[in-house]
Order: sequence, then structure tokens, then C-alpha cells
Amino acid sequence: MIPKVNVDSPRRDSFTSNIGVIAAAAGSAIGLGNIWRFPYVLGENGGGAFLFIYLAFVLGIGIPVMLSEFTIGRRAQRNPVGSFKKLAPKRPWFLIGVMGVIAAFMILSFYAAVAGWTLEYIYQSVTNSFAGKTPDQLGEMFEDFRMGSWRPVIWFLVFMLFTAAIVISGVQKGIEKYSKILMPILLIILIILGIRAVTLPGAGAGLSFLFKPDFSKITAGTILEALGQAFFSLSIGMGTLITYGSYIQSRDNLANTAISVSLADTFIAVLAGIAIFPAVFAFGIDPAAEEGLVFITLPNIFQQMAGGYFFSLLFFILLAVAALTSTISVLEVVVAYFSEELNLSRKKATIIAALSISLLGILASASWGWFDKVTISGRNFFGLLNFTSANILLPVGGFFIVIFVGWFLGKNQVRDEISNKGTLKARILGVFMFLVRFIAPIAIALVFLNGIGIIKF
Ligand code: TRP
Repeated sequence: MIPKVNVDSPRRDSFTSNIGVIAAAAGSAIGLGNIWRFPYVLGENGGGAFLFIYLAFVLGIGIPVMLSEFTIGRRAQRNPVGSFKKLAPKRPWFLIGVMGVIAAFMILSFYAAVAGWTLEYIYQSVTNSFAGKTPDQLGEMFEDFRMGSWRPVIWFLVFMLFTAAIVISGVQKGIEKYSKILMPILLIILIILGIRAVTLPGAGAGLSFLFKPDFSKITAGTILEALGQAFFSLSIGMGTLITYGSYIQSRDNLANTAISVSLADTFIAVLAGIAIFPAVFAFGIDPAAEEGLVFITLPNIFQQMAGGYFFSLLFFILLAVAALTSTISVLEVVVAYFSEELNLSRKKATIIAALSISLLGILASASWGWFDKVTISGRNFFGLLNFTSANILLPVGGFFIVIFVGWFLGKNQVRDEISNKGTLKARILGVFMFLVRFIAPIAIALVFLNGIGIIKF
């Protein structure tokens, strides 16, 4: 869903329509973050109260950060590092972009590992291997797969190859065309799964787990997890949307785009929660089953529904496609940086990036197999990459991005961008400036410092 960028010519390509922009940014945002990560992080962090905090963070912090990224990208017309260099020459702001490139390496390595799991589950769907298994057996099936090392690593490499091939060959136009059809189908399947889940006997407990806040379960760590999840799911804090912002045309409405994309992303996450938690409780699965939650729960539902074979196959294919539109947006950040700042050809940039990310990704994919003895402060490679990127690098990046827009670019430049040089009303400008100057940076700083234990409330 990214436009073809021809770095050899001075003219930058751009998205052709506002729908194209929304589709591309939504394609980046909607992915495993909504369907795999959101439910298991919510499950580990007590349910309803987490959801409540998450929604508040999307509205008060997520949307302002997203709009800030679009503003920076469209104004500068560069990759994240180049954008800061252009808007703030000879200042250290470009380091935010460098941190984003590092975050892209880390995120892609474990994210594509999980995307590889979806390929394994397509294969298991084809061979009808969920049929007749108990919830416990489906749990074991997932664990055995993950401990096997070779299979997760190979699927990961296959997925990286797809991602790199698309970014190299610029067939993004095709991807964009297909995902405009495929993503609505994913939405419909999620709704069907949700209906099946809430009509299972014992589903009510899952709905109250998801929607009834129990604030006694909230800790400083939980709140940081909610912030990290909001950043992760919205694809913000590392410059993905600065890069996409640089492809947005001058007549498109940045604020509307940021709001639509954020709301669509959040809707899908909540829908995934509705499909998963009623089933988790109905089948007696542990809501804190961590990274396996979705992969263990959904096959149980497929078994209990008419046409389960068909739905399971279709669902995992669409999930892989949703993951692909996200992985190409992460790889695009690294490639745009390598090609524009280091003057590599697009092809060389993609190959170097994909190969080095693959090395890190092998560590992530084999975290429960070859490397299961390796832990760093209680986390395996996968957990470390996942935690550090979402809960540390993205919030820190987001913090500096809003500070940059609120205090460095300042109101006049921001007005110029958000109002398309005065042609739009930009009624939200006042609220936006207030959020990026005060609310968002203060909230991010407090949640972050409290969450990692530097200050204590
Ligand atoms: N948001 C995507 C998802 O939910 C993943 C993703 C794509 C991402 N680009 C990103 C996460 C940039 C953080 C930063 O699946």
C-alpha cells in the first residue's frame, strides 16, 4: 500500500487520492497489532480497565501524534531522518529519525516472526489439523510449533522475502488494489467470528472481562503497556507515518485522515477483542496465555461453527495479508532512509535492510526453541524486542515528535499544513496545538517514567 518512490528522479511520487492515503495508512496501522497483540496484552493486563485506558490514550495522545507525523512528513517531503534534517538543519532533532530506523529493525524482526506463524496456521487450516482437537491440544499444538525452531524460522524468512519483494519491485499498486477488497472481507469475517463467539455458552464472562473495568488490576506497568499498545497499533512513534505523510498530496486533509485511520484501527482492535474473549472464557483458555492467545482461541471457534474449515483458511490468509501491508510500511522506513540519506539504490537498500533484519528475526523466531535458555532481565529475545520497541522506543519517539511540532515548528507552520495553506478551515488547530504542546508530552512522560519505575505515584 505504499506508492512507488523513484529516488533517482527529483520528483517524489505520491498517493493518488485521499482514499489511497487512508487505505495505505490504515493498511499500515491495521495488522497483527490489532488482532494478535491487542487481545493478549489486554488479557495479561486485567481486561476492561486496560481497554478504558487504551481508548483514552488513542484519543488524547495517539491521534495528536499521528497528525504530527503527517504534518512533519508532508512539510519536509523526506524520510524520517531527512525530514528532521530539513526542518531543523544542524540540530540534533534528526536523532528522533535515527531512533525510528532502529525501532523499525526491532519491530520488523519480531513482527514478521508472528506473521510467519500466520503462514503456519494457513498450512494447518489447509490440512484441517484443528479438527477434533480439545482446547488443551490446540494449546499444545501451538507450543510444539513454536518450540520447533526450524518451522518458525523458515516461515519467518518466507514472510520477509514477500515483504522485501514487494518493497523492491514497487508492485505496491497491486497490493493497494487487492487490500482494498481483502481488508473489508477481513472485517466481515471478524464480525462473523464475533457473533459466533458471543453466542457460545458461557460467553458472558468474556464480555464482562473485556468491557467491565476493574481498576484494582491497574499498575504502573499496565498503564505503560496500554500506551505502548496504542503507539504500536496506530503505527506511530517511529516515523512510518512521517514517511507516508511525505507521500500525501497537498490538497488532502491531514486531520481527517489521522482521525479516520485511528478510529478504524481502534474499531478493529475492539472487534478482535469481541471475537476472542467470549471464546477464551467459553473454552476455559487462560486469558493471560500471552503470544499464543489468538492462535489457540480462534481454532477452537472455527471448530464450533458451520463452515469452520473455510472460515479458518480465509481468516489466516487475510491476517497474513493484513500483516504484509504493515510489514511493508515498516521496511519502507528503513529503505527510504538508506536510499535517500545514504544514496543507495532502492534495490540495494532493500536487500541490505532485509538481510540484516532477518538475522535479528531468526533470534526472535527461535526464542522458544534454540534460544529458550537465553533471557535478558526475564525476557527472551522476542519478548525483549517486543517490549523495548513498543513500550520504550515508540513512546520516547512520540514524545519528541509532539514536542517538535508543538514547540519547534510552532503554530504558523502547523496551521499552514493542517489548513492546506489556508484553503481548509482547520477548526481543530487550537485543540491540536494544546494537545501537542501540553497534554500529550506530559502524559507520555508521566506514564513512561512511572512505568519504568523512575518516578512513583
Ligand atoms: N501498526 C501495525 C499493526 O498494528 C504494525 C506497525 C506497522 C507498526 N508500522 C508500524 C508498529 C510502526 C509501530 C510502528 O499491526
